[in-house]
Amino acid sequence: ARLDVTETFHHISFPGHIHTQDSLNYACHFKFQDRDTVIVTYPKSGTTWMQEIVTLVKNRGDPQLSKTVPNWARAPWLEQYYSAKVLGATQGPRIITTHLPYNLLASALQGSKAKVIYVARNPKDVVVSYYHFHKMAKFLPEPNSFDEFLDSFLEGSVSYGSWFDHVKGWTKQAEVLANVLHISYEDMWLDLRGSMEKISAFLQCPLAGEELTSSLRHCSFSSMRDNAMVNYTLVPQEIMDHSKGKIGDWRNTFTEDQICLFDTVYSYQMQDCPLTFLWE
Ligand code: PPS
Repeated sequence: ARLDVTETFHHISFPGHIHTQDSLNYACHFKFQDRDTVIVTYPKSGTTWMQEIVTLVKNRGDPQLSKTVPNWARAPWLEQYYSAKVLGATQGPRIITTHLPYNLLASALQGSKAKVIYVARNPKDVVVSYYHFHKMAKFLPEPNSFDEFLDSFLEGSVSYGSWFDHVKGWTKQAEVLANVLHISYEDMWLDLRGSMEKISAFLQCPLAGEELTSSLRHCSFSSMRDNAMVNYTLVPQEIMDHSKGKIGDWRNTFTEDQICLFDTVYSYQMQDCPLTFLWE
């Protein structure tokens, strides 16, 4: 049986088995603390990877926590039903994850000194990854063809809403929020060391030689694939994410017509957004 009930909140649909009106409201009125680190992503944009990187940086490359505590317990998704309980029980600086669009968190973050890391990914790779994830995860609606899914993605009717609204909302906030680091999945893929140094400097946790080497080793794709705390194998009745972790893989899925449609919507939607992506 599928578990794909949805919870609609501010015109956006969320997977119902992990979100409730209460949990979504809790997120919108959350009291951020100055020492919080908030990882913000549209789904399939490198969330789990960043949770691992931030955990390792904050633990100076010691993998103990990342290998023994599931990602949702050490970097909970703010809007999911368990977060009030998990965050309430956390002492000291917290790592918080969210897929919420900026407008839903704007007032909660206003005036906050929490450090926000926004990860964006080439949306062509996002839509392909999201499509495969819908096929595997029972809590998301079963997609029909990729063509239909692409239409829903481009019109913003998929779970968690429009990719365009998400990246535009969070990108435009660079001046409003005190502490935001924007980074892309592609930056991380092409230069993980440089990205890790940038992230650790932003978090004011600069890493010495072996701390950096160890962090790099433990957040590599192969190391994370084998780590039960992040690879979905802990989740009962759920299907493992058969990920590839590549950039530019969308070329194996898109047809010429789909590229054309995508590029037309993209250039219309993104005309006043400074964000650029590596498309290969
Ligand atoms: S989710 O469900 O929204 O939390 O998914 P998210 O973690 O944002 O994105 C999943 C994609 O990230 C890839 N991934 C990685 N790529 C490179 N290196 C590492 N270490 C890594 N960890 C996760 C994962 O493979 C998914 O991308 P696709 O394209 O589906 O393979």
